[in-house]
Amino acid sequence: MHASSLTPSPAPQPIRELIEEGLHRRSFLHVTISGTCAALLAGAGRGAAVGELAPGTPLFQFRNVPPSQSDTVVVPEGYVAEVLYRWGDPINGSQPTFRPDASNSADEQMLQAGMGHDGMEFFSIPGHDANARGLLAINHEYSDQILLYADGLKPMPPTLMPLEKVRKSQAAHGVSIVEIARQSDGRWAVVDSPRARRITASTLMRLSGPATSVLGESVRGTVNNCAAGRTPWGTYLTCEENFQGVFGSQDENFSASPDLQRYGLRREGYSYDIGGQSISAYRWWEQDARFDLAQPNHDANRFGYVVEIDPLDPTSTPVKRTALGRFKHENAEVVLAADGRVVVYMGDDEANEFVYKFVSRRPWNATHPAEKQGGPLASLLDEGTLYVARFGADGSGRWLALVPGQNGIPVKQGEDDREGFDAADICIRTRLAATAAGATPMDRPEWIAVHPQTHEVFVSLTNNKGRKSADAANPRVNNIFGHILRWKERRDDPAAEEFRWQVFALAGNPADADPTRHGNVAGDAFGCPDGLKFDSAGILWIQTDMSSSVLGMPGFAELGNNMMLAADPATGEVRRFLTGPRGCEITGNARTPDRRTMFVNIQHPGEPADDVSDPVDPSKLSSWPDHASGSRPRSATVIIRKRDGGEIGS
Ligand code: FEO
Ligand code: CA
Ligand code: CA
Repeated sequence: MHASSLTPSPAPQPIRELIEEGLHRRSFLHVTISGTCAALLAGAGRGAAVGELAPGTPLFQFRNVPPSQSDTVVVPEGYVAEVLYRWGDPINGSQPTFRPDASNSADEQMLQAGMGHDGMEFFSIPGHDANARGLLAINHEYSDQILLYADGLKPMPPTLMPLEKVRKSQAAHGVSIVEIARQSDGRWAVVDSPRARRITASTLMRLSGPATSVLGESVRGTVNNCAAGRTPWGTYLTCEENFQGVFGSQDENFSASPDLQRYGLRREGYSYDIGGQSISAYRWWEQDARFDLAQPNHDANRFGYVVEIDPLDPTSTPVKRTALGRFKHENAEVVLAADGRVVVYMGDDEANEFVYKFVSRRPWNATHPAEKQGGPLASLLDEGTLYVARFGADGSGRWLALVPGQNGIPVKQGEDDREGFDAADICIRTRLAATAAGATPMDRPEWIAVHPQTHEVFVSLTNNKGRKSADAANPRVNNIFGHILRWKERRDDPAAEEFRWQVFALAGNPADADPTRHGNVAGDAFGCPDGLKFDSAGILWIQTDMSSSVLGMPGFAELGNNMMLAADPATGEVRRFLTGPRGCEITGNARTPDRRTMFVNIQHPGEPADDVSDPVDPSKLSSWPDHASGSRPRSATVIIRKRDGGEIGS
């Protein structure tokens, strides 16, 4: 690769304007808040004060932490990181307790934190100080099928996966809603609460939107809950990502249709490579026929959605919003358009898949904030237009409406037509419609974050080694470190159909001369950006997911363990704020409205390079967070506080 291909695309006038606007913006952060943002904050009950920065004040002031290979969470001087909620911790703060040998039953797992903590949001509770008490909604992305059980993968095929083990694995997926409160010593704890709840792969949920004409209105369970989002009306959005892994079949004659193949669905499901043998990790289909792809009414088309949950009502039924499309959803970043319509930005995390946004048909009526899911507003996320992004070589961009008969999407000509699309097909076979529309294949779109004051949008593209050729928006063929793009919608309106984009940062080490590894980050180097989230002051928090298979490899070794960094969108400066324990990724990012408590998730500490944990010596690579002899590494939510009680980042 030529070094010149590492530079952002030629900078036409609008991109220079972007930068100048960004620089200028810093001087009036304290006075500018759009009406829609104000409505969003008020409606979500966050009451957050927008950062009160005097002109010229740096956006963040902490001293960076160095790269780390230690088995601990490291934060800057003056900060503390405290473990709050680990896999197996009870949702009511007391029972049932976690058994370190992983011998908790499936029923106990239903009342405990799941595995693989990922996206997360903090919700205030009416009548309580939101800076001292609230609800955390936490995603559990997947279960490590070896660490989850006292006897690991036993019994192996051809013996069937025991029902109890399937049920425990299904209970380790999904979402936790836990109530947390600040204690007198400043620490936080999970407390007993009537709102505490686990939502799992077995929870009854409703399907809504256009796909219900094909799929019906009922389904059990949500799985592979990756990143998240929140609506202005106070609900939680949990996003189903790698759902293909829990589907499979024992039927040796089964072969996946092109539609299933496009979503990675295959007979083996997700599998471990053990001694050269491929072993299916989940095998749920051996006990639960809805995960068996050979069954005519399997549930594969009922997964891959954004699911809406009311965290305040423990009796509410989660709703899968099919209008937001079916793909490997990363997060769902919600903003309001100038006219009040609801806009949801979403990435599809797979190499050469796409960036999407949904625009609701009707505006949100903020004067009725009490109307939540199930009420008259329910259809806000059920009726609208799904768009997919095309990034032009000249810094221009277009949102292509996924509508049959438009943008090259053929109209379905009868029931047996597998090439054409109707409204339900758009929601179920979304990836195929987006390809037909000519969307730009991207380098694995992960989180999307919108600046709270300017509506400028950022997306992390975590890496891609499978690109045939570079393009302007994905400028490296062998993109092992990933990059971050930014764009501005036309007239600053999130509902616009045109935008201008630029590269924000090419990750990698600026000191590395190898063009594959070289990055252009202004400040601390990082690799594989994944989590992106703005706080109310306008700090862009970046979380990394360098996979365990590359940690320590050439180019990655000097970056150490995965990390979280703060970025200033105006100057481009990036500063390392946190480093995680060995083998983990850093993900999930929430905070109290006063920005004095931050919640971060540590996912899969101790994950080996081949993803095959050791049931005999589970703490071989990491014993975080318990650090007891032979203890299992456990995904966990961590609280970050400043010792002087200040705002995080200051
Ligand atoms: Fe679950 Fe794409 O990360
Ligand atoms: Ca992710
Ligand atoms: Ca990732």
